[in-house]
Formats: sequence, C-alpha cells, structure tokens
Amino acid sequence: MTEAKKRILSGMRPTGALHLGHYHGALKNWAKLQHDYDSYHFVADWHALTTHYEDRSIIEKSVYEMVIDWLAGGLDPNVCTIFLQSRMPQHAELFTLLAMGTPLGWLERVPTYKDQQIQLKDKDLSTYGFLGYPLLQAADILMYKAHFVPVGEDQSSHVELTREAARRFNDLYGRGPNDAALIQAALERLSKDDQRYLRSLKKKFQEAGDEQALAKYQGFVQAKTEFSEQERALLISDATGKGRTVLVEPEVLLSPVKKLLGLDGRKMSKSYGNGIAMREAPESVQKKIKTMPTDPARVKRTDPGEPERCPVWHFHQVYSSVETQAWVQTECRRAGIGCLECKQPVIDAVLAEQVPMLERAQPYVQRPDTVKDIVAAGCMRAKVVADDTMQQVRSAMGLNY
Ligand code: TRP
Ligand code: SF4
Repeated sequence: MTEAKKRILSGMRPTGALHLGHYHGALKNWAKLQHDYDSYHFVADWHALTTHYEDRSIIEKSVYEMVIDWLAGGLDPNVCTIFLQSRMPQHAELFTLLAMGTPLGWLERVPTYKDQQIQLKDKDLSTYGFLGYPLLQAADILMYKAHFVPVGEDQSSHVELTREAARRFNDLYGRGPNDAALIQAALERLSKDDQRYLRSLKKKFQEAGDEQALAKYQGFVQAKTEFSEQERALLISDATGKGRTVLVEPEVLLSPVKKLLGLDGRKMSKSYGNGIAMREAPESVQKKIKTMPTDPARVKRTDPGEPERCPVWHFHQVYSSVETQAWVQTECRRAGIGCLECKQPVIDAVLAEQVPMLERAQPYVQRPDTVKDIVAAGCMRAKVVADDTMQQVRSAMGLNY
C-alpha cells in the first residue's frame, strides 16, 4: 500500500500577467511538487481585493489569465487541484471564526503589514481587510489541513501566524466537552497564588513562545500530588495548546530555486516595469534583453566589465551552462566580448524556455471555456475538503445547535 501523499497549498494574487520571476520563484517548483504532494493551488482574488478594492479591473482581467499562466508553467489539472477563492465561501466563514480569538497584536506585528503600507503609498491600506489579510491566508491554509505551504521567504511570517492560529484554535476548542470544567476544578484546588503563577506561565508560552515558561509549568504540574494523572495530562495539554488536533499546523516549504532578478537588477516586479512575462511575445523578449542595462563601467566596447555589477550576469546564473558562465566571466573582464554578444545566449535560453509554455497555453487561449471548466472542477474538489473541515470546526466550537 502506498502512503497517502501529504498536502500542499498555495495561492497567488491575480493582479496581472505572471512574469519569469513568478515562474522561477514559485511556479516551476509547484509543477515539480504536484507529483509528490496532493497539491491545491488557488487564485487569491479576495487577497487581491485587500490592495485593489478600488481599481478592481485588473483582477477581473487576470483571474483566468493567471490560470493559463499556471497551466503554461506546467501545472496539470489532472494531477493537482486548481480553484478560485471567491467561489469558496467556507474561507470567509473560517476567517470569521478564527478572528474571534485572534489578538490584534498578532496582526499588527506581521512585518508585511507595515512594509506594504509604506511601499504602496498611493493606496490607502489602513483598512480592516488589509490588517486581517494574513488571517484570511491562515483560513485558506487551515481549510485544507495543508502540511506544507510552498512560498517565498516573504510569506513565512504569514505561515507562522497560521501556526499560531491553529494552535490557539486547537487549544480553545480541540478538546472534550467536559475538559474545561475538569481543568477548572483541578485548578481550584490550588492556592490563588499557585493559580496565578500557572496562568502567567501559560500565557508566556502561548503568547511569546517562551519554552522555559512551559518547562516550569510542566514541572510544577507534575510535582503537584493533589492532581490525578488525568488532571495532569489535561493541564499540560491545556498549556501546550495541543488539544485534539482539529486544525493542522502547516510548515513553509521554501522554494529551492535561485531568485530571478528584473531587467534592471532589482526584484522582478510588474510595478517596476522590469519584467518579462511568461507568455511575452518573442520579439518583445529580444528587444527587452537587448536594451537591458549592463555594467555601467562598460561605456565603450574596449572597457573591461565586471559581471557582478551587471544584471545580465544574473540571467546567466539562472539560464546558462557553467561553460557559458565561465566564458562571460573571462571575456567580460578582459573586454573580449561586447555586451550584445554576451546577451545572445540569454535571449536564446529565455526563448527556448518559453516555447513549451506558449505551446501549453495555446489550446486554452483558443478555448477560454476549458479554463473555466478546470477551475469549476477544482472548486468542486476543494469543496469536499472545505465542507468536511467546516463541519469539524463548527462542531468543535459548539455551533451545531
Ligand atoms: N499572500 C500570498 C501572496 O501575496 C497569496 C496567498 C493567499 C497564499 N493565501 C495563500 C499563499 C495561502 C499561500 C497560501 O503572494
Ligand atoms: Fe554584462 Fe556581459 Fe556586458 Fe559583462 S559583457 S557587462 S556581463 S552584458
């Protein structure tokens, strides 16, 4: 018998055509992982609304185009599940329920909250939706009991918050109906000072992750002869938050690939206008690479250059063989080649990479309905999992009146 595959889940915001940075940073990895994991990938259109609640037109234009980019990048709809967030109201329900027990500070402390507000100055991001967005992401992830979340480093704080949210949920609701009363009765046999001491240790561990406080708590509980064995177990699971696992704590699965920088050497990003789209027209690819900046010190053909200062070299590191890389290193530094000559292998490699992508996209571009069908089928599959999770969540919270 083969072991059940572990599940992964990840999403992307539909805010424009995907570029090669998305491909190398995420999609290529998803396409590989789909064979080893039960993979769920969704179009995060609600997430896009947290920053694009005014100018929404780009979202509408991008939803199915992004799915075509995914298919072009190698996601196979017969292997993985591709779905659309806004078709899954369960995400909103779980978000609401998680929100009840989520301290504001958890959200205010997420680094992307302040960073993005500073970076996207032209947008008013002092909204409830924007503050709550990492918790919505937690709901996305917890809904599918994903073991792993394949995302970049920039998203790891969101996965950390997801873990905290799961832990707190299991702590608050993941136990038997009489557990709370039993714990209370046990605690009441202690002196007021001891009760306060235990409460403060538990808080230190749960809110600040203080492992020493947890060790002290455990030692204290174990040593109390007035507790029964069952009471000790209950009290300790109460502090560790490891009640019955209703929601699964996920882990980040960092993408192993080297980040592809933009044409100007900064992070590749649509807002910088320094990208190459996954399905960019070949003439445009040529033109963009031919005109991309090189080492500023190489003014004349006879000036020696330094690859480390050149964005073209970044492309070589992703696209070229070791031989070609060695050729660039030597010839650039002794002005043995011109920059256009140096760029040619990059142009060839990018164009070659795009051939299968354009080919895979072709039938979907011609018949957009098939893309909608893929998403509809994915939503149906996702619904089975989401309904099951929500059933458990409602029952754990005592909402089955
Ligand atoms: N926040 C992610 C981004 O901006 C997108 C996202 C939303 C996501 N929900 C997710 C990623 C769940 C992984 C898992 O790129
Ligand atoms: Fe950059 Fe290549 Fe020109 Fe050197 S030769 S500056 S690496 S483009």
